[in-house]
Amino acid sequence: MILAIETSCDDTCAAVVEPDGRRALSNAVHTQTEHARYGGVVPEVASRAHLERMDGVVRKALSDAGVSLDQIDRVAVTVRPGLIGALLVGVAAAKGVAYARRLPLVPVNHLEGHVAAAYLEAPDLEPPFVALVASGGHTALYAVGEDRGMRLLGETLDDAAGEALDKGARMLGLGFPGGPAISRAAAGGDPERYGFPVALKGRDNLDFSFSGLKTSLLYRIRELGPERVRRELPHLAASYEAAVVEALARKLLRAAELREAGAVVVAGGVAANGRLRERLRRECAGRGLRLVIPHPSLCTDNAAMIGAAAAHTPKIPWPEYLSLNARSV
Ligand code: KG4
Ligand code: ZN
Repeated sequence: MILAIETSCDDTCAAVVEPDGRRALSNAVHTQTEHARYGGVVPEVASRAHLERMDGVVRKALSDAGVSLDQIDRVAVTVRPGLIGALLVGVAAAKGVAYARRLPLVPVNHLEGHVAAAYLEAPDLEPPFVALVASGGHTALYAVGEDRGMRLLGETLDDAAGEALDKGARMLGLGFPGGPAISRAAAGGDPERYGFPVALKGRDNLDFSFSGLKTSLLYRIRELGPERVRRELPHLAASYEAAVVEALARKLLRAAELREAGAVVVAGGVAANGRLRERLRRECAGRGLRLVIPHPSLCTDNAAMIGAAAAHTPKIPWPEYLSLNARSV
């Protein structure tokens, strides 16, 4: 069994995953609530909270799986990219467990982890496919090859999709994280009331840009004034969410077309978005494209996806990983 640890941002995560990376026996996540009052993740607060929770979360992952440390044959951990202080807590914990048990260590890239969540959702899935990773820190399209190698097809030129939702939510006076908050506020709203812009619409452009959208919301809010913003809130939220979803769906489908892909995968926290999931389900069905979107609990940060990626990532033998470092990029 693989014991996997993930601490790249504000979730302290541990999981037990089967050796082939196709089934998670447990997936423990402690979501840090300390950041809510700051309206964004505070790196130093995140590191401290990981440190306080790490032990308990690892214990929970083992007990939820009904597995003892004796049954673990390797430890996987996210080493990049992410908040450096946060990553370091996970890497130190993973090294500690692996070293004490004389186990190998598997260093995992967080973005490969997000994509690998698809193998847990659809155990029969095999590359090649086109993958969209949309999270709070990243928004990118990849061609995933037969060897699971990821080739970048396009990415955001400014904000990530999740970041755009988080910032939009803050402007609208909604909570953090913004993605779910905007969706809640958008209930019953008209997504077409405000025609927020979708950037880089050129047919063969696979990059994203969300900064214009953000500015456009800001101008709208100023123009309407607080009273009308309150009244128009469901429409503003729905229209803003629709613009983000439109950009993501449009580019993913275009990438699939250009690559002549038979399957597409959507991963990362924003893939938990109901409107995006519904839209892609409809469009992919119409095109005969296989769509794999992991369960929302596998879309937001978690360690099961890190274990899934580790199944196909080279391991470092005991004790060569002691000098292994985390990296922010
Ligand atoms: O993948 P993730 O958990 O962490 C990063 O690696 O960044 O993604 C977090 C992002 C946040 O921006 C959050 O607002 C967004 O994912 N998110 C959502 C939803 N749940 C989380 N966005 C839209 N709809 C959701 N249901
Ligand atoms: Zn993530």
